[in-house]
Amino acid sequence: MEKISHALVTGGAGFIGSHLVDALVANGCRVTVLDDLSTGHRRNLDGLGDRIDFVEGDIRDADLLDRVVKGCQVVFHQAAVVSVTQSVQDPAHSCEVNDLGTVRVLDASRRNGVGRVVMASSSAVYGDDPRLPKTEDMAPGPLSPYAVQKLTGEYYASVFNGLYGLETVCLRYFNVFGPRQDPSSPYSGVISIFMTRASAGQAATIYGDGGQSRDFIYVKDVVRANLLAATEAAAAGRVFNVGTGSFIRIRELWKLIGELSNVKIDPVFGAPRLGDIRASVSDIGEMERLLGFSPQVKLRQGLVDTLAWYRGTS
Ligand code: NAD
Ligand code: UD1
Repeated sequence: MEKISHALVTGGAGFIGSHLVDALVANGCRVTVLDDLSTGHRRNLDGLGDRIDFVEGDIRDADLLDRVVKGCQVVFHQAAVVSVTQSVQDPAHSCEVNDLGTVRVLDASRRNGVGRVVMASSSAVYGDDPRLPKTEDMAPGPLSPYAVQKLTGEYYASVFNGLYGLETVCLRYFNVFGPRQDPSSPYSGVISIFMTRASAGQAATIYGDGGQSRDFIYVKDVVRANLLAATEAAAAGRVFNVGTGSFIRIRELWKLIGELSNVKIDPVFGAPRLGDIRASVSDIGEMERLLGFSPQVKLRQGLVDTLAWYRGTS
């Protein structure tokens, strides 16, 4: 793999971003992190010391971006308001961060000679198209402000690629899980919430009937996908699904986490969430064919490792 000597990771103190920072540092890359710590934590970067430059700030700050992208070959853009529900409750705020913030990142990158921007998009852009698995060529059908914002980010990336020759790659992550996913808000990723509930011997709330399905991918596999997207020539200008090609229903997920945690507690069922997608599973043929990517961590193994982390035993 071609070496990246200096990279910027926006949202690098967050769940996925901090794992990406770890991998880049391990590869000998100099890393600048830009994060406003709205949902990320400085502790996620503990142990990296002066091997990274941490800058606390907002991706909407154009002057700050100009400073932090200077000299970077690659920008990994992870910063966002991540919660679908939060975007439903406050569409204007999430629009500012997810859309204006993304344009600012792209614009600072093209003005400062960055080679490539790898952006975190989302499987949410597909909405409820009944055809499964989701392939990249399907027409998008966003169901939430968040999904509109991620799709808009992809369109901007494509336009910057075409107009200014800034190489961009958009990765449509399916549902990512693993250590450091913050369970502390009701908007957090479902696995982080279910694990903390099960570990505390408490029931989880399932929104709707629990028949909705998701394709969960382990965070370390998502990091590998990012590194390939940053370094493989064939990735430039493209959009890729990043998932596993398998799915599990939410009520089965609660059962599985219960089994792994040695607890058997009936869930509480609540009203379905507004903007929630019913069925989600990826086709990852494009990423396999063009970038040689296939996920390595199976759901069960990923859950075991994640549970150990939440219990503080790994
Ligand atoms: P996260 O909340 O842990 O990470 C997001 C980071 O961005 C946080 O550290 C937060 O402090 C930072 N941030 C937010 N607004 C900012 C701003 N205005 N300026 C600077 N920093 C800001 O969430 P995550 O799960 O690690 O998500 C990373 C990316 O992946 C996001 O773009 C998200 O939309 C995307 N994504 C995540 C999933 C998933 O399942 N977790 C799935 C699809 C896409
Ligand atoms: C998640 C990501 C989003 C990403 C998308 C890609 C988070 C917080 N959101 O959204 O950024 O773009 O995947 O597919 O990481 N659920 C319950 N009980 C709970 C919590 C959730 O039943 O306590 C259900 C939800 O209703 C939903 C499913 O579990 O059907 C997954 O929810 P969640 O983890 O919030 O993820 P998504 O909304 O899919």
